Amino acid sequence: MTSEITIRRPDDWHVHLRDGDMLAAVVGHTAHQFARAIVMPNLTPPVVSIAAATAYRGRILAALPAGADFSPLMTCYLTDDADPAEIARGYQERVFAACKLYPAHATTNSAHGVTDIRALAGVLETMQRIGMPLLVHGEVTDRDVDIFDREAVFIERVLAPLVRDFPALKIVLEHITTSEAVAFVADGGAQIGATITPQHLVINRNAIFDGGIRPHAYCLPVAKRERHRLAVRKAAVSGSPKFFLGTDSAPHSVGRKESACGCAGIFNAPFALESYAQVFDEENALDRLEGFASEHGPNFYGLPLNEGSVTLRREDIGVPAAITAGEISLVPFHAGETIGWRFVDETPRPVIGAAPVATNR
Ligand code: NCD
Ligand code: ZN
Repeated sequence: MTSEITIRRPDDWHVHLRDGDMLAAVVGHTAHQFARAIVMPNLTPPVVSIAAATAYRGRILAALPAGADFSPLMTCYLTDDADPAEIARGYQERVFAACKLYPAHATTNSAHGVTDIRALAGVLETMQRIGMPLLVHGEVTDRDVDIFDREAVFIERVLAPLVRDFPALKIVLEHITTSEAVAFVADGGAQIGATITPQHLVINRNAIFDGGIRPHAYCLPVAKRERHRLAVRKAAVSGSPKFFLGTDSAPHSVGRKESACGCAGIFNAPFALESYAQVFDEENALDRLEGFASEHGPNFYGLPLNEGSVTLRREDIGVPAAITAGEISLVPFHAGETIGWRFVDETPRPVIGAAPVATNR
């Protein structure tokens, strides 16, 4: 039985780092495990310009723990008013790594999202021409569509026509949750990829209602039936270069989760690699973890692979019930559970119970 694996340093191709005190509380967890991360732009107000992305990137770097070696890759939030020239310039100047499409009102801070993708043809043509990836939150928002069907309906109504109209546009279907999404991505051209979160590999929708309402198992897209989880697991461990690691770590304070209208989002950053390693181990696919975590993503984005490596050791670790930083208390994914893998690294884990030290890099 493999007791230790060493893989090339991985990246997180979808993360919410937030801003202000929350940024300071969470960024160290992502920087500890990953060399780079695609940072979601759904702040209030959203990150829609080169100036806003540059300023946000500066705040992220300033909030990193001392000595961290981490590069945030910034994204531009698409709105109905998105400007193709600004987006192209941002990509060419390497400020933006990609654009993010949130259908209006699909999820947290998406009120400024796109109401009709067809109105963005000019932006999409530009992105296609310059090779800039479009990252898609793939859910329709129509209230008459059942919440568990919103991803599959999005693929049929929005994504399939989009791929037909922009056949060379690089698209990442983010945080896939269904067999329909797996099939669409697997059957599509090399320009279509998908990220997969730890939670969609580990839980099905029963987890949200396990003996009562479990807000910490609620995220968007919502976890689906078991057969969908199994399809997503199969895709993750398949070795296909189309599927890669994106945690969608989406912290909300405990008070905002445990509420009459709890926010969507699972904070999985502190034990993300351990969680993925456990899944790949259960699937007898530890030899495929490196491709999923460290190679398929950069290859899709056309970025160099990271130097250096990280090691995971087979060892039980207890996940704390809560992680606090200053005034902020967060419940991590796997809270109170045991995971059978430990992330081994010389750099110390961010101190749990204290805010990370800020530097002025
Ligand atoms: C995300 C958030 O909280 O920003 N929530 C989530 O459940 N994943 C938004 C998103 O990615 O949908
Ligand atoms: Zn997200």
